[in-house]
Amino acid sequence: MTHTSSTQVIPNVAAMPRHVAIIMDGNGRWATKRYMPRVAGHKKGVEAVRAVVEACVERGIEYLTLFAFSSENWRRPADEVSLLMRLFVMALEREVSKLHVNGIRLKVVGDLSRFDSKLQELIASAERRTANNTRLTLTICANYGGRWDIMQAVKKMVTANPGVTDFSEDQLAAHLSMAYAPEPDLFIRTGGEERVSNFLLWQLAYTEFHFTETFWPDFDGAALDLAIASYQHRERRFGRTSEQLIEQKKAS
Ligand code: IPE
Ligand code: IPE
Ligand code: MG
Repeated sequence: MTHTSSTQVIPNVAAMPRHVAIIMDGNGRWATKRYMPRVAGHKKGVEAVRAVVEACVERGIEYLTLFAFSSENWRRPADEVSLLMRLFVMALEREVSKLHVNGIRLKVVGDLSRFDSKLQELIASAERRTANNTRLTLTICANYGGRWDIMQAVKKMVTANPGVTDFSEDQLAAHLSMAYAPEPDLFIRTGGEERVSNFLLWQLAYTEFHFTETFWPDFDGAALDLAIASYQHRERRFGRTSEQLIEQKKAS
């Protein structure tokens, strides 16, 4: 099943999470702490992306979703925004072949219409090139907002069903920009802030959260393992009682 709702099927937490979603935060503070410009933190952050993608492949994680640029990040100083765009273009130009060789499917989700046409073309061609890869699906959320995602899904759903006024959650979920992925099992936010910042609002309904003080440029495979270890000690109940889960386990 493609978009199984984690709220219906109880995953085995002792296994690897299928889908890990990360807010990569703390690049600016990482740099400031070192008396470096914020951009140095973003550059170092790209290296951390490389390391974490590799770590996910090694661990057999099927979906990795990274929040790279939020719909609110346009509020930053113009030079920081344009540097982030340049880094994104450079990363696409340099890394896509490597992703492809490693069997990684790349998806970029968000309101891409606000990006310049060169970037939009790079994204489209990278997605096309890697479309049939099955080892890991790497989703980059760019100009993404959880509220934007829900709104665009509502609009598509209503347009696809003229005259209909009664809809199910599943119908809406099918139009979300990540309808191809199961809901995240594990959400990680680096950089010490404990908030969702308009990330995957709909899909995080029953996701397990892990917050770490580690700044994103310092995040690596070992830090990922700590997050996974914490996840593996959770009891995902989805509204049930602990006793019910124990009974269910005995029965299976
Ligand atoms: C995350 O790091 C990267 C983006 C939001 C693009 P920040 O740039 O938010 O770093 P801090 O939070 O200022 O340290
Ligand atoms: C969230 O980080 C967005 C990304 C990591 C891309 P921010 O640093 O922009 O979030 P706030 O503004 O502190 O909530
Ligand atoms: Mg931040």
